This record gives sequence, structure tokens and C-alpha cells, in this order.
Amino acid sequence: MYRLSLHAQGPEISRLVYGVWRIADDPDTSDAHVRAKIDACLEQGISSFDHADIYGDYSCEALFGRAIAADPALRQRMELISKCDIALMSMRYPKRRVKFYDTSAAYITAQVETSLRNLHTDYLDAVLIHRPDPLMDPQETGAALDALIDDGKTRSVGVSNFMPWDTELLQSAMRHPLVTNQIEINPLERSAFTDGRIAQAQRLKMAPMAWSPLAGGQLFASEHAPLQEVLGRIANEQSVQMSEVAIGWLLAHPAQIVPVLGTNNIDRISRLHTALAVQLDRETWFEIWTAAAGQEVP
Ligand SMILES: NC(=O)c1ccc[n+]([C@@H]2O[C@H](COP(=O)([O-])OP(=O)(O)OC[C@H]3O[C@@H](n4cnc5c(N)ncnc54)[C@H](OP(=O)(O)O)[C@@H]3O)[C@@H](O)[C@H]2O)c1
Repeated sequence: MYRLSLHAQGPEISRLVYGVWRIADDPDTSDAHVRAKIDACLEQGISSFDHADIYGDYSCEALFGRAIAADPALRQRMELISKCDIALMSMRYPKRRVKFYDTSAAYITAQVETSLRNLHTDYLDAVLIHRPDPLMDPQETGAALDALIDDGKTRSVGVSNFMPWDTELLQSAMRHPLVTNQIEINPLERSAFTDGRIAQAQRLKMAPMAWSPLAGGQLFASEHAPLQEVLGRIANEQSVQMSEVAIGWLLAHPAQIVPVLGTNNIDRISRLHTALAVQLDRETWFEIWTAAAGQEVP
């Protein structure tokens, strides 16, 4: 699998990324099964893993980290991305009264240190601010992110779910570049193509990461039959599966969109690389857009 740099100043990651959000939902959360998923990724060159402190009610990083603790050499074979700033309502924080965001320097730094401990590593490849925080002080947050890089706790920093003005504000208060904006992009969620988020990423030369590239499985729901008809036809023509065509739809975009895949199914994980062979010309790309939108472009 070929690799790409999220930004000229790194990090280099695999063209497809595996997202760890759902691993605690798998009925099998044994060490052996988590390791089998990691191996199924590594064997096809998917070496980059997307985490967040909160995934699995604050449990996923530690579940995954057990694999690194058992085999420390694994860390050299992978890139680890994590996120912070969402404070969840959770039994782990019984005094919390509401879900909120916290981009204070103290909170971000403490969460990254917790992620490092949970993942049994002394550095992350990227730390992302998970959601824009209406209370963000850009000077404080920007300085905290710069310091995480300067202190060697992460090789790079970025954002997630940011609108262009949020990204611009934070970047204006930083020395190091923001290397990505991780946003939802899939045939059913096309707004990033027209609201300036992908345009900004292209202008800043940062590769956007696409979360829920299969709309969390919704692409295959019965109400999206017209979209499935188009995906299915292309899949047949290219001897791949519909999900791979949907991933290929993201890969075909010139912004170097990086899909972050979330299936827990080992067979599906093992096939993910086949999406790289999907070829979509301009007209086919718009066929998928049109079928998903339910109308032709204006
Ligand atoms: N930054 C953010 O705010 C944010 C938000 C959400 C997610 N994320 C990241 O994005 C990652 C991916 O999100 P996601 O899990 O929603 O991605 P996804 O790949 O769009 O959805 C995966 C889900 O679709 C299901 N699915 C149904 N049919 C499928 C098929 N034919 N092929 C593959 N999957 C199928 C999977 O079920 P099976 O497991 O049964 O295959 C799984 O539940 C997360 O792990 C996380 O790292 C980030």
C-alpha cells in the first residue's frame, strides 16, 4: 500500500487508516482478537490507527495499547493518531454534570499524557483537537499544541470537525502547522466539498481525513437503494465490493482524502486494500454523487 504525508512537515501515514472507535463494541475484545485486527491491517500496509481518548467510554486506547505492551516492537511498525477535548458524561467521571469541550492547555496536555500511557508509547504521530470548542482561547490552545510537539509528545498536531474559520483562527496562533482536518465525508455527507473545508485543506496542503467513509454502514441501508444500484454496478464492473467503490470515491478526489475505516469484521478489514485498485473517471464519480443526492448537480 502506498503512503502519503498528511502535510509537507509530516507525518507520513498509510493511504488508508483504521479507526479504533468501535473496537470495544465488538463482542470479542480479547487481546488475541484485537491483535488479529491489527495484524490484518499491517499485513496489507494499513499501518496508521486513529484513536481518541473517549472511544469506547475511555476504554479503546487501553484495549489497543495492550497489544503494544505485549509486543513493544509493534510501535515501530505503526503510526498512532489520537484526539482530545471532548469531556464525556461517563461513570468514570461521576461528578460531571454535562458533556462539554475543553481546549485548555492543562486539559489537552493531561489527556495526551493519558493517551500515551494507555497506548504504551512515549509519542503520538498526530494529536487532533476533536471538536471545535466555543470557549477556545486560540493563544492558549495553540501554545499547548506547539508545546506538545516541542516536548516530543507528538510529531504533529491537527484538528477534527473544524470549519475553515476555526482552523484559520487556531493556526494563526501557532508556530507548527496543523496537518489535517478529520471530517465526515462519504457519498451521503458531501457538505465538506462545498462549504470550504476541502478547499481550505487543499490551499493549506494538508490532507483531510474522512471519518465514517461508509456513513457508519448507512450506505447499505434500504432507503439508499438508488445509490446501492450505482455502487453495485461499478463494483461488478471492477470485481470489487460496493464498500470498496465508496472508499475509491474518496481516494479519487485530488485533495488526497484519507479514509478512516471502522469495520470490526476481520474479513472486511483484510479486503480494505482492494479499494486502492478502484478506478473512477469524472463521470462515474458524479454518478455516485447524483445517486446519493437524489438529483443531478445544478
Ligand atoms: N473525528 C471524529 O469526530 C470521528 C467521528 C466518528 C468516527 N471517527 C473515526 O472514524 C472511524 C470510522 O468510523 P465508522 O466506524 O463510522 O466508519 P465506517 O467505515 O463508515 O462504518 C463502519 C461501520 O459500518 C458497518 N458496515 C456495514 N456494512 C459494511 C460493509 N459492507 N463494509 C464495511 N463496514 C460495513 C460496520 O459494521 P461491521 O463492523 O459489522 O463491519 C461498522 O459498524 C472511527 O473508528 C473513528 O476512528 C472520527
